[in-house]
Amino acid sequence: MSEEKITPAAAVGASTQNSENEIGRRGFFKWLTVGWIAFGAATGGFFTIMIRFLFPNVLFEPPQTFKIGFPDDYAKNTVDIRFKKSFNVWVVRDEESIFALSTVCTHLGCTPNWLQTEGKFKCPCHGSGFRMTGINFEGPAPRPLERYKVSLSNDGQILVDKTKSFKWEKGEWENSESFLIV
Ligand code: FES
Repeated sequence: MSEEKITPAAAVGASTQNSENEIGRRGFFKWLTVGWIAFGAATGGFFTIMIRFLFPNVLFEPPQTFKIGFPDDYAKNTVDIRFKKSFNVWVVRDEESIFALSTVCTHLGCTPNWLQTEGKFKCPCHGSGFRMTGINFEGPAPRPLERYKVSLSNDGQILVDKTKSFKWEKGEWENSESFLIV
């Protein structure tokens, strides 16, 4: 039986070959990993876009028709600011009626503030002033605030309908839907 002898040079050659194979294998797995990560990122991005497409941006606006309580909830000669933020209306009760005023300044659309001590709405943008009735009397606002339709619902509460507005300059405040006699 002959014994095969491994020379030192052959041993070095084999070792070099092994380490080259090892490096090649590591490189392969490295690129495979990078490839998978890239594939995962691309797939994730695609599905993210698809989900955004299925759930588009929607603006949730407050309802245009809503109840604001009973006439007796409102004291005479007061401006109620409870619904300013939620529905963009002021509820005003004078000596004989209740009406809902728009909070949109008729100059450039800012939101005025009700100043109780001065008894007026004052716009912070350019200084327009409106009386409790909504009539403009100072600053650049060209016309009074608008009023919205008000009615009594079946349960006796006041119902405000912002889909119908009334402009003073068109004589629409005479319309019986623009106020409630109390
Ligand atoms: S927006 Fe109100 S005064 Fe200009």
